[in-house]
Amino acid sequence: MDEVTNLPDFGNSSMPAHVAIIMDGNGRWANLRGLRRNAGHEAGEQALLTAVETALEVGVSHLTVYAFSTENWRRPADEVEFLMGFNESLLLRRVDELDAQDVNVRFIGRRCAPVPERLIDLMHDSERRTADNSSLTLRVAFNYGGRAEIVDAALAWAASHSETAGADRHIDDAEFAAGMYDPSMPDVDLLIRTSGEMRLSNFLLWQAAYAELVFTETLWPDFDRDEFLRCLGEYQQRARRFGDARDAPITDQA
Ligand code: FPP
Repeated sequence: MDEVTNLPDFGNSSMPAHVAIIMDGNGRWANLRGLRRNAGHEAGEQALLTAVETALEVGVSHLTVYAFSTENWRRPADEVEFLMGFNESLLLRRVDELDAQDVNVRFIGRRCAPVPERLIDLMHDSERRTADNSSLTLRVAFNYGGRAEIVDAALAWAASHSETAGADRHIDDAEFAAGMYDPSMPDVDLLIRTSGEMRLSNFLLWQAAYAELVFTETLWPDFDRDEFLRCLGEYQQRARRFGDARDAPITDQA
């Protein structure tokens, strides 16, 4: 890999630990080429693998991608059906490769119908097979909604505190977050959305509370290593304050 020599100097403190990506624009990429939308999703597979490689290369330790939302069931039935089969085949074809790259694959979202049982089984299987890997944690948000996750966390908390809940019962962020789909997931540092849309679309509403947002016009299938590095460079220029008065760029923060 000769790319390493081209890496910008990100410094020690400037690399986001957790990057989340809304992989948007597959349909438009296909339309521009006179192809069917599903061809755009197929083309997006390589962009996903490249994002994983780049994250490994630069030392991002958590990468979370939005693959299917709780609202995406409203898409045309043939596209939904395609996406279920596509994600199944992607897992079947790529898990060995991800495992060899020391990637820990996890899923967040509602793991229940209408997600096909075969796909749910594959999710569990991929998680089991890659559980000991530690170079990168790749979380795939599937049948995921940020609001649904918060509702599910509230239900989990209520179920486990039915005896003690009351008007004077105190609950803090950390205790509530224990009910999130993957409580070990750190907060998002950098959230990227491709294709020029500037919204969160119900992605990681809790975990992205202080994320830096980077929106790029690039359509997901064209999101390559250079574009990922450019987004990381943009992140590096931001001043993160977390509510206090610090006004230092990320590189100056210890
Ligand atoms: C949110 O926008 C975007 C997503 C939930 C990503 C969807 C991505 C895919 C279907 C492709 C997955 C590709 C691979 C390679 C696995 P939205 O369109 O749901 O929300 P909006 O209506 O607000 O734009």
